[in-house]
Amino acid sequence: MKPVWIKNAAQLVTVAGENGPRVREGMSDLGLIEDGSVWMENGEVVAIGTTSELEALYGSRAHEADIIDATGRLVTPGLVDPHTHVAYGGSREREFEMRLEGATYMEIMNAGGGIHATTRMTRDASEEELVAQTTRRLDSFLAHGVTTVEGKSGYGLDLETELKQLRVMKRLNDQHPIDLVPTFMGGHAVPQEYKGREDEYINVLINEMLPKVAEEKLAVFNDVFCEVGVFTPEQSERILNAGKELGLIPKIHADEIESYGGAELAAKVGAISAEHLLKASTEGVRLMAEAGVIACLLPATALYLREEAAKGRAMIDAGVAVAISTDCNPGSSPTTSMPLVMNLACISMRLTPAEALVAATMNAACAIGMQDKVGSLEAGKQADVVMWNVSNYQELQYLFGVNHVGSVWKKGVQVVG
Ligand code: NIG
Ligand code: FE
Repeated sequence: MKPVWIKNAAQLVTVAGENGPRVREGMSDLGLIEDGSVWMENGEVVAIGTTSELEALYGSRAHEADIIDATGRLVTPGLVDPHTHVAYGGSREREFEMRLEGATYMEIMNAGGGIHATTRMTRDASEEELVAQTTRRLDSFLAHGVTTVEGKSGYGLDLETELKQLRVMKRLNDQHPIDLVPTFMGGHAVPQEYKGREDEYINVLINEMLPKVAEEKLAVFNDVFCEVGVFTPEQSERILNAGKELGLIPKIHADEIESYGGAELAAKVGAISAEHLLKASTEGVRLMAEAGVIACLLPATALYLREEAAKGRAMIDAGVAVAISTDCNPGSSPTTSMPLVMNLACISMRLTPAEALVAATMNAACAIGMQDKVGSLEAGKQADVVMWNVSNYQELQYLFGVNHVGSVWKKGVQVVG
């Protein structure tokens, strides 16, 4: 594989520095290099600096490399999406229309639509169909500069289909350029056949599903939808602790629709991240900061459900490490655009353009335990790089609703552009 030398970048955002969740001022630390240059070889970043620094180091090997002239362009690490439900069957555009006509998200779900509708379509899809549908979405992620994606099961809600979703993700992690990090989410909803017998479903989840998932090493994380009408904080805690005993790291969909003690629970169980948090209490946010739980905020979901976004600005000011994500799913956020999510993080949660980039790179990588490999451009990390058709990071957040991706490299191989 030929080395790649990207040179003359108007701005090179490295996000280099502390390789852990960034808080407060750390969220603005872009490690910016003007007239920047990256040398990548064997899938890794080998050297990074100004173009003249790299000329001095690598000028004599220039003839060996593919040389990319990034004059006038912004170059950043590949974006990381730390929260998606990407491996699902079918689509739910009729529900979009129903919500515009006045139905709420929970009304649709309680009437057998929502997560239940996608569960039926995912159960009905063959593994090959799911691979094909998910591949299209991963291709779209890549086209939007996203090179690492977390993906949840949770549209099976029975052992067979949960395993099918996780196996699809495992196959795609091997086949597709994107790194796909798997989360088990049997706790996404109580399946309709267990209506009124919630605790029986939880027993199946804990005694049958979790052990099998752990035994086959199909997931790194265990997530639960802690929400009024879905799983109570007590039920969620049982599910998360059972996963922990099997080595699965807790994540939690918390306080999305109603304030329900989800942020508090995330701190109590030591979750790596808590998701959504639209209605998180001030005390819950304080506890998250204290416990080092990353807030994974999903402003596209809030917009799509026409809800007020999470209080991202206040969370950063309270010392919480904030990550952002698409929440890509067929109901509340059918998008693969992390650039749009960065724009919305600025517009609806008042993150600065620099904070939005750190939230979509280093902090997102930390939310899925991938910070040793991705999330910043530093020697020894994966060569996951995006060259954008804008000249600076503020412009990337300012010109919204447009895909500015020029080229993308994954592990040093050009996959877009
Ligand atoms: O993160 N909130 C729960 N789960 C997903 C939505 C799933 C769906 O509607 O299919 C979310 O928003
Ligand atoms: Fe979600």
